[in-house]
Amino acid sequence: MTRTFPSDFLWGSATASYQIEGAVAEGGRTPSIWDTYSHTPGRTLNGDTGDVADDHYHRWQADIALMQQLGLQAYRFSISWSRVQPGGRGPLNPEGVAFYRGLLDALIRAGIKPVVTLYHWDLPQELEDAGGWPNRETAYAFADYARLMAREFGDKVTVWTTLNEPWCSAYLGYASGVHAPGRTEPAAALAAVHHLNLGHGLAARAIREELGEDTQISITLNLHVIRPDDAGSPGDLDAVRRIDALANRVFLEPLLGEGYPADLRDDVEHVTDFGFLQDGDEELIAQRLDVLGVNYYSTTRVRAFAGQGEPEQADGHGNSSATPWVGTNGQVEFVQQPGPYTAMGWNIDATGMHELLMSLSARYPSLPMMITENGAAFHDVVSDDGAVHDLDRVRYLHDHIDAVGQAREDGADVRGYFVWSLLDNFEWGFGYERRFGVIRVDYDTLERTIKDSGWWYAGLIQTGQLPEIDPLASGVAPGR
Ligand code: FCB
Repeated sequence: MTRTFPSDFLWGSATASYQIEGAVAEGGRTPSIWDTYSHTPGRTLNGDTGDVADDHYHRWQADIALMQQLGLQAYRFSISWSRVQPGGRGPLNPEGVAFYRGLLDALIRAGIKPVVTLYHWDLPQELEDAGGWPNRETAYAFADYARLMAREFGDKVTVWTTLNEPWCSAYLGYASGVHAPGRTEPAAALAAVHHLNLGHGLAARAIREELGEDTQISITLNLHVIRPDDAGSPGDLDAVRRIDALANRVFLEPLLGEGYPADLRDDVEHVTDFGFLQDGDEELIAQRLDVLGVNYYSTTRVRAFAGQGEPEQADGHGNSSATPWVGTNGQVEFVQQPGPYTAMGWNIDATGMHELLMSLSARYPSLPMMITENGAAFHDVVSDDGAVHDLDRVRYLHDHIDAVGQAREDGADVRGYFVWSLLDNFEWGFGYERRFGVIRVDYDTLERTIKDSGWWYAGLIQTGQLPEIDPLASGVAPGR
């Protein structure tokens, strides 16, 4: 059966500022925590940094031309806070603002809807020096910055996304330390969770104060699809409950007006008394969400651990002796899952996409969703003909988009899909060794080449129908 999507389903692709822009010391930009972190020896694979990245800062016009070649209807990108507001406070930097204004205007001229993320992990370093996300003041600074962005770009942005994956900002940044700023302080990580939630609420309110109640607001979460190793084991089911609370419900429930989960507060009682939660905060966090951004890559499998030695930690979130799973005290084990795997070592399981969308839609039936990231890293090869025949990626995208289509048919209100990523780029701690793009970037020449997956995706956008998997056989390679 051919999977068909309606004409108003939004097809796009996503990137993030630090991963593609480069030009880190140009145009008045000041360092973010990712500049500091990536320049700290031993933090990233091969010592890679975002100094040059894809040089998108200088090549954005050509990149928009590539988006047009793919026929993208929307482009999700993030604003570098320290480029538009150096240091994270005070007046805006006109050069930084001009860069994004040029980008937004050109996208609109090209008929591509801008979906703007205000924060994709690159906190201005000065704000980290003042305490970072564990400091409540950061939430207020974020809301001020959001208000200024709304004032500058208000009429140009289709959807405002406050935060990308606050789970990563809080737990990988402040608990396991595999992301910037690289701290390993469990209590601080939970304070960061709260201040990210609060920052979202304050920012959403500020944007609507500037632009009116109709302004479309979203947040993007990396929700975990958590499965018990043994569905008949009460211990394993309790491990699922704990991880669901830390990973998913700690964001979803306050965002959607239910406050923080009581069981989570009990679970982490020995880490924090939630003293950071002030009267009125939960109301502030629960601003109306027009659409929930869902990022999905793979599944998670857990079981209760009562054994000897170290529990297995195959959670896909990097290597650190400090766990991101605050308060679990080694009682939960993350079990290696069956393959196949992507180059990230993440298991490929498109049923998780369907399961996630159906469980969200059962729980929050009136909340529209958009897949703001989905995609895969593989070790791409450039063929003699200069093309990248990335059949693995085509297969991955096919199966996951098919799962989105199935979820829609089963009643989930999913309005769009953004492939991660438009371009190969700086994959955080994994540097340039992990390629997610549907467009290849040659890091020696910065030359771009649309991969077979890109042409395949272009065919899907053009027809609204999921093409055959084999991009060569299917003949959906317009222009190649
Ligand atoms: C997500 C991030 C994105 C990219 C993908 C692979 O967690 O939001 O920047 O790194 O993973």
